[in-house]
Amino acid sequence: MTTPSTEAPFSEISLRVPDKLHFQLVFRRELPQAVVVREVKGVQFCVFDSLGACMANLALLRQALGQAGAIKAVLKVLRGRVFYLAHEQGRVLHTGWVTFSFCRFYRVEQGDAVIGPIWSAEAARGRGVAVYATQMILNVLFSKGVRVCFIDTSNGNVPCLKVIEHAGFGYPVGVFLRD
Ligand SMILES: CC(C)(COP(=O)(O)OP(=O)(O)OC[C@H]1O[C@@H](n2cnc3c(N)ncnc32)[C@H](O)[C@@H]1OP(=O)(O)O)[C@@H](O)C(=O)NCCC(=O)NCCS
Repeated sequence: MTTPSTEAPFSEISLRVPDKLHFQLVFRRELPQAVVVREVKGVQFCVFDSLGACMANLALLRQALGQAGAIKAVLKVLRGRVFYLAHEQGRVLHTGWVTFSFCRFYRVEQGDAVIGPIWSAEAARGRGVAVYATQMILNVLFSKGVRVCFIDTSNGNVPCLKVIEHAGFGYPVGVFLRD
């Protein structure tokens, strides 16, 4: 009789979950090196990680978040968060946030990055813009010394699950319930 190896890296389990139970899946990605970016023709990336960066692209920030939202975003950036967007000739197609060392819903270590929420303009969906922007922000984070990155989404959000997969996040490492 053979005994199962205790060194197997994964245990396969199967779960029956009621259709109406909504939960968030948590993904964790290590960043040992920069990631390969799938470019989208004509789409550019812009990161807001300092007051100077916010001022340099204030019009894009205003367009993405409105006047009041842009002011709030600058304050958040000054407190250490990072905002980013993808645009096509000045038209904002995608936005995202990054928080460091903290998540309200699950434990992360000092220096880890948590991406989200992310959003793409309806008219731009399905073009690969979210995948592009997520890969770009991963490289920005890598250049800042971040080596572990988290992202989460609800179990039913197929487009977002695909973005997470295409951005190299592998299997989920946790779940939590969210109302
Ligand atoms: C999730 C979201 C950001 C994805 O943005 P996007 O720019 O359309 O993403 P991309 O085009 O880069 O990739 C989407 C992938 O999902 C696929 N997809 C899109 N709609 C789908 C659907 N209804 N069913 C299955 N797959 C779908 C696309 O084909 C693509 O996969 P592919 O590259 O293998 O073809 C966007 O749908 C969105 O803003 N949703 C509302 C906000 C949200 O749910 N945010 C995430 C939670 S924080």
